[in-house]
Amino acid sequence: MATINSHYLTLASGYLFPEIGRRVAQYREQNPQARIIRLGIGDVTRPLPQVVVDAAKAAFDEMALASSFKGYGPEQGYTFLREAIAVNEYASRGVAITPDEIFVSDGAKCDTGNIQELFDARCRIAITDPVYPVYVDSQVMAGRAGERDQAGRYDQLVYLPALPENGFLPELPAKKIDVVYLCFPNNPTGVVAPLSYLKMWVDFALQNDVIILFDAAYEAFITDQTIPHSIFEIEGAKNCAIEFRSFSKKAGFTGTRCAFTVVPKDLMGRDGEGHEVPIHPLWLRRQTTKFNGVSYPVQRAAEACYTPEGQRQIQETINYYLENARLIRQGLLKCGFSVSGGVNAPYLWFKAPVASSWDYFNHLLHTANVVTTPGAGFGACGEGFMRLSAFGDRADVEEAMERISGIPASG
Ligand code: MLT
Repeated sequence: MATINSHYLTLASGYLFPEIGRRVAQYREQNPQARIIRLGIGDVTRPLPQVVVDAAKAAFDEMALASSFKGYGPEQGYTFLREAIAVNEYASRGVAITPDEIFVSDGAKCDTGNIQELFDARCRIAITDPVYPVYVDSQVMAGRAGERDQAGRYDQLVYLPALPENGFLPELPAKKIDVVYLCFPNNPTGVVAPLSYLKMWVDFALQNDVIILFDAAYEAFITDQTIPHSIFEIEGAKNCAIEFRSFSKKAGFTGTRCAFTVVPKDLMGRDGEGHEVPIHPLWLRRQTTKFNGVSYPVQRAAEACYTPEGQRQIQETINYYLENARLIRQGLLKCGFSVSGGVNAPYLWFKAPVASSWDYFNHLLHTANVVTTPGAGFGACGEGFMRLSAFGDRADVEEAMERISGIPASG
């Protein structure tokens, strides 16, 4: 019998969202008449922009002809999409990223989970707390996290608390670290990072030989002109950061799958003897070995996001979700909750009126039939908080807020 990777046994029992799904399914089974509104997982509900659908259809038509049929594409993405990304996401903001520094993939979740393969098992990884669980669980699977305590914290990870006291912007670590995951606009707190805050991290990373893994999957929701969309807007970041982006939340691709990761050619790690080693060829090696690329029609669909009509349609959908976020924020404030996020981000984070966020999750599910995400699922510092997603249907959002304001604060 094969001996399994025992690190899997130190994972928390289930991934957060399937666990929520299980509880909701159980409730639905016992209450089949309940009309449940889902504001839990951050999954989009608006249809794909028509230009995106048209581009995908046209690409499939090409696949139907021998003369334009395509088999395997380049593992790191077609040049047409990488060029469109370089121009529209970076050059447009004054950032010089070359197309070959961009790796097209099927999701930021996969890339943020897989990137850790490039780092030694002894690397000290820092994560913010609360945090997107993928960053933690992928370290656990790789055996880099150590033992889990009662609160669910691993003794080899460095946790950076994001609390109301620091405006949910964690301080720099006191301990030596090698890699840090940052996510802005933040999942789950919905806060954004001002330029000065990101500059603090880039300066720290450059001075301390730290690599920043910057998850910017929600950058499209930034409306404040002063907030950076990319870590590469900060001088020096190309020497210390990798950035993850996605079409999922930006353009409704959660079911279509397309994302990209930027690994600058200037970014270096060190080998066992302390010599500098470029990271870019390692990620290229990893992707060409373990990934066969995103399908041609999907990459054509992603490219269409950058046409003027694509940009217009995408912005319309983003505005729809941002209006949802505004309504949720207003509703929560009216109920007297203390709320962050929901302004330049699709997530709202609020203090639960009871100590246990799973208890409050159950309370909202049972009394208001509204699905939320309990803050404890994002880490020990998330306990006592709740997350609401603004990706729902407008009528559902309005009804959910009415229901929440109409129930007693706790059971
Ligand atoms: C979330 O709800 O946090 C997101 O849907 C997770 C994801 O994008 O994988």
